[in-house]
Amino acid sequence: MPIRGDFVKIFLDSADVEKIRHFAGLGFVDGVTTNPTLILKSGKKQKDVIAEICKIVSGPVSVEGAEETAEGMIKDGKEFAKWAKNVVVKIPMGKEGMKAVRALSAEGIKTNVTLVFSASQAILAAKAGATYVSPFVGRLDDINVDGIELIRQIAQIYKNYNFQTQIIVASVRNEKHVIEAAQIGAHIVTMPPEVLEKMFYHPLTEKGIKKFLEDYLAAKAR
Ligand code: E4P
Repeated sequence: MPIRGDFVKIFLDSADVEKIRHFAGLGFVDGVTTNPTLILKSGKKQKDVIAEICKIVSGPVSVEGAEETAEGMIKDGKEFAKWAKNVVVKIPMGKEGMKAVRALSAEGIKTNVTLVFSASQAILAAKAGATYVSPFVGRLDDINVDGIELIRQIAQIYKNYNFQTQIIVASVRNEKHVIEAAQIGAHIVTMPPEVLEKMFYHPLTEKGIKKFLEDYLAAKAR
């Protein structure tokens, strides 16, 4: 795909402030995505946890409400956008959602269309003016549909028409999802901290470090 410019960005799909701080300290957090489930898991109030995250991460931080009407989503979105300058408003796919995306985009508020499971939904999100679209690969894999194939389709379509909407590969379960998303050229992969943790390791790296250390010390002791 595109993907002009930047190398694949790594977002954390988490509201765990300590884990976000840890990986941000290593320089690997380009942004954060949250959802109501992750906020509930954090044990904190949404506004408080988002404020903490926005102090740590300067990149986009997606915030999701739970309104069902466009009016409610717009009201929420305008409020979230006041919390920090890097807040992105997460809006669920659907008619009401797309109305809200158009209205918020018109006011210069960034949006992330979430719960996207088909390329046709991704076309509508881009046409509505979404800044980001979040196709959920893991939840598709869970029902025996190839999630990564959806990323391939969306990337091709956006490239054909030079859509500016960026793809956030979401519902990531493993490193294979990350690698395949990057091979396709997706702009962003949002992953749980556990997946980012695993990306650092390979058993042969660990084995090699151990052996080199032993040999280094043996040679030094001569
Ligand atoms: C995306 O922004 C969502 O927060 C997330 O990736 C959902 O992932 P899950 O399927 O693991 O809940």
